[in-house]
Amino acid sequence: MNSKENPEKIYPAGYESTIKSQNDSNVRNQLLFEILKTSPTEFINTDLFTVMSKRRSTRKFSDKIVETVKIDKIIAAADTAPTAGNFQGFEIFYVKSSVKKQQLVEACNNQPYVNAPLVLVFCKNPSRVKFDFPEEILKKFAIQDATLAAAYSQLAAQALGLSSIWIGMFDEQKVMNVINTKLIPSSVLCIGYPKQDKFPKPRRNLKELVHVVWE
Ligand SMILES: Cc1cc2nc3c(=O)[nH]c(=O)nc-3n(C[C@H](O)[C@H](O)[C@H](O)COP(=O)(O)O)c2cc1C
Repeated sequence: MNSKENPEKIYPAGYESTIKSQNDSNVRNQLLFEILKTSPTEFINTDLFTVMSKRRSTRKFSDKIVETVKIDKIIAAADTAPTAGNFQGFEIFYVKSSVKKQQLVEACNNQPYVNAPLVLVFCKNPSRVKFDFPEEILKKFAIQDATLAAAYSQLAAQALGLSSIWIGMFDEQKVMNVINTKLIPSSVLCIGYPKQDKFPKPRRNLKELVHVVWE
């Protein structure tokens, strides 16, 4: 059987995609490429700035499951983020087990909303970053890679009518034990349908945010 007849080849064990994709090494982002060939399933305003203006952290999710087609898109979005040298110094742990999700609650300082319909742990993998730079630099690149990817997923979730909470408060070793990896996590992204829509939080005055370097 060749790879065209064996689409599972590109998916990790346990990943159930709606896209029965072919393994074509010429395609930059296989999952996204296949997604773009499908038509949208619902009408949502996906204008980037509209999506940004509506995003608000959510800690109360409804029980509604996140559809597989949306999970595909959220993961594909992470895979479009820029990475240092395109070495993609990060990995995603898609936590499906309800037992593991509950263990993650404890690993994340007992934050109950970590037990969300969709839980993605973004980990740094500096060993993928093949620059001849000091280890510290490679680690810095990997944390930026993982953070950007998670941010792309977070915005994608919003664009799909979902909401999310970014978790940075966790015990690294405990999270690593739960997901069974040696890679250090950078964030846990918890996603679901919000129980209620909330207005975005205010931000500081532009004068405090932007410093113009002009002479
Ligand atoms: C680096 C980082 C770490 C965060 N860690 C947590 C966390 O552990 N628990 C939590 O409830 N929210 C956490 N948040 C979410 C922030 O509290 C939230 O983004 C912030 O209050 C602004 O609200 P907004 O996202 O609705 O704009 C974190 C956000 C970031 C970017």
